[in-house]
Amino acid sequence: MDRLIIEGGRPLKGGVEISGAKNAALPAMAASLLTGGWHCLERIPRLRDINTIKRIMSKLGTVFREENSHVLEINSDNLTCFEAPYELVKTMRASILLLGPLLARYGRAKISLPGGCAIGARPVNLHLKALVAMGADIYLDHGYINARADRLKGAEIFFDIPTVTGTENIMMAAVTARGRTILKNSANEPEVVDLANALRSMGAHIEGDGTDTIVVEGVRDLKPCNHRIIPDRIEAGTFMIGAAITGGEVRVEGCVPGHLTSLMEKLKLAGARIDPAEKSLTVTGPGQIESVDLMTMPYPGFPTDLQAQFMALMAVARGSSMIRETIFENRFIHVSELRRMGADIEINGNQALIKGKKRLFSAPVMATDLRASASLVLAGLVAEGGRTEVHRIYHLDRGYEAIEKKFRGLGASIWREKE
Ligand code: EPZ
Repeated sequence: MDRLIIEGGRPLKGGVEISGAKNAALPAMAASLLTGGWHCLERIPRLRDINTIKRIMSKLGTVFREENSHVLEINSDNLTCFEAPYELVKTMRASILLLGPLLARYGRAKISLPGGCAIGARPVNLHLKALVAMGADIYLDHGYINARADRLKGAEIFFDIPTVTGTENIMMAAVTARGRTILKNSANEPEVVDLANALRSMGAHIEGDGTDTIVVEGVRDLKPCNHRIIPDRIEAGTFMIGAAITGGEVRVEGCVPGHLTSLMEKLKLAGARIDPAEKSLTVTGPGQIESVDLMTMPYPGFPTDLQAQFMALMAVARGSSMIRETIFENRFIHVSELRRMGADIEINGNQALIKGKKRLFSAPVMATDLRASASLVLAGLVAEGGRTEVHRIYHLDRGYEAIEKKFRGLGASIWREKE
């Protein structure tokens, strides 16, 4: 396992190029199972999770060609297996995204039921309920989802909760189902819209993506996907918060400012200056960070995936702030590690009260989940008194491409060491 070593106290300066979005690349790769031929996906980030889904799809019989490090060609003409095994699924819950496409194309799938993870139970009941409504037979057996469907039929689906991967799974299941599928209370995250665009490049008939009602008209045939993945708004947001917390000035390049409106509003309230352009934005950190309350919400509300990073900022703000996490039941794991660096944070249920401190102190800390790890790196960039060591950074490598190289390019003193 690797660790990151960070020497704090250096304002971030300069430009950073944002990679493709992990949470758009994963569903687009799963969508390539829907039809034969060579699919081409551009701006694929080089991440552990991308390697994991490639390993699972290779096990099914999918073949990959890498034109260059960010262009991926995929061919699933000759699938020989329809099972996603526990030992791989347990490392990446998003494997559930293989269920919809496998059922749609082959009428069968055996996917390990994704277990919980550090941030919560993460059930997939809404995915399964919707597929049953579309005519699938599904039974759980020894920790596996066993699914069968002669041909899925269109249905009217209402999601009790706007689930991102649930919406994506059902959209993929519906594109070749017989008739019309209406997804109500669907998620409207940019990653859902990006998957709809990828599916439309394959000939799918989808409308309403980006709203809470999506309509899919089933078609008989699809053609291979040709699509460029959107930039990663969570990576972009992480660097924006990095500029604010270090009092630096960072130009975040190759991002979509419109995907980051809620964060921009909160950073302005915290005293940062934001200068958005068409495909980039510049964040100038304030001399004094002001405390700001926030509540995580489905898009376009404040993203839960930036909650831990924003909390690191509030840990060194003037005054107290309240952060409420409404999406996941256990997404404050970073708090105990931030406390070890001197942060003053009290948790009460799904709310955290952060009393800003003048400074944080370097310490050895443990990464526990992807975004909690990012918050520890941000805290390390401003911690005083030596070197912060962030252990078990494989969590970071799941969702951030070359994170220490990108921060070093902005002037941070940060490097990777073998444990
Ligand atoms: C996606 O997870 C993202 N992952 C998460 O990013 C992100 O935090 C989350 O959406 C919320 O935005 C991918 O896209 C691969 P949900 P997902 O289904 O789809 C409950 C990261 O760091 N729920 O929208 O799993 C669920 O428990 C990751 O990149 C059910 O109850 O999240 C949660 O409380 C972390 N039953 C809420 O809905 C279901 O069947 C929203 O979850 C499905 C979800």
